[in-house]
Amino acid sequence: MSKIVVISGHPDLEKSHTNTVILKCLEDSPESMDIRRLDRLYPDFRIDVEAEQAALKAADVIVLQFPFHWYAVPALLKKWVDDVFSYNFAYGPEGDKLKGKDFILSLTIGGAEETYDPLGYNHFKIEQFLHPLQQTAYLAGLVYRAPVYTHRMVYIPGVYNRLEDVQSRARDHAGRLLEQIDGLLNSPQARIERFVTEWFRQFDQLPQSSDWFLEHLDRDVNWVMPDGRYSGHAGFRDWYSHARETFRPGCDHQVEQLEVRRSDTGYQVDLRIRLLAETFEGSPFGGEAVNMLVNETWQVSLDAQGRVTIHDYLVEAVDSQA
Ligand SMILES: Cc1cc2nc3c(=O)[nH]c(=O)nc-3n(C[C@H](O)[C@H](O)[C@H](O)COP(=O)(O)O)c2cc1C
Repeated sequence: MSKIVVISGHPDLEKSHTNTVILKCLEDSPESMDIRRLDRLYPDFRIDVEAEQAALKAADVIVLQFPFHWYAVPALLKKWVDDVFSYNFAYGPEGDKLKGKDFILSLTIGGAEETYDPLGYNHFKIEQFLHPLQQTAYLAGLVYRAPVYTHRMVYIPGVYNRLEDVQSRARDHAGRLLEQIDGLLNSPQARIERFVTEWFRQFDQLPQSSDWFLEHLDRDVNWVMPDGRYSGHAGFRDWYSHARETFRPGCDHQVEQLEVRRSDTGYQVDLRIRLLAETFEGSPFGGEAVNMLVNETWQVSLDAQGRVTIHDYLVEAVDSQA
């Protein structure tokens, strides 16, 4: 399965001078990518929503590659977003299918940098024009990463720019995009961040078996919760069975803050998590819905295969009086 999906929103790549160059560089890179050229797939604007959603589900990184058209995405790409980011896929009670995936806007822009300024004729910064897409990403639970963009990409022979200049800028653009993707997929921080996403996805489901969690816990793990300390795998099993008697499956762990930094023994992960959950009648919460905020500090290590092991797991309730 492809880990990177690139949605090319150019309405007609036959007439492109820069997006084609960028896509070619991506195609030639060693990273395997699912590059989806919307102009070829859907010249009639009839999007195959199921196929597009399947491609997004399979990806860790989603790139929208497009030329800036009237300060926004081209109409074909807007149609794609409207159709594909549907209820219970990108939003709604079961709309978590994009949650935690990295999202990069990669765009080519005709105007020069200085025109995108309060004193320039385009008045606003590029980032301001991208706000609707940024908010779309937030709503869908995507992780909005710094956009990659390049100015002065319009080529009209004898009027604007030289072909070799726009193409060279396109190659440079592709290099920057690939570098960002590489950092997202392969840096230790990125691997740990992906693990955190998967960890809470599992906790949301509260599966009967605790095996998946145990595979990522050190044999002597220190598991410190607001209600007490638990030691090693046996301690975790005790705590987990108690958690399963308290919270109903299908809860929602929202990662509000996440920081990964190097520590003496590996990495320290600092998190702020909001838990929204329904509880069982016989639990200490007596069947009431809970909305709680906790700070978590983990000590983890990463092996050569990129597997994460948790050694210390400390959870503290956030005190509303503090
Ligand atoms: C319909 C249309 C609208 C455009 N609108 C803008 C715009 O709002 N701002 C801008 O800087 N460039 C604009 N441009 C220039 C394109 O961004 C530029 O031609 C494109 O990024 C070059 O990519 P390509 O060679 O792959 O087609 C527009 C071009 C077209 C065709």
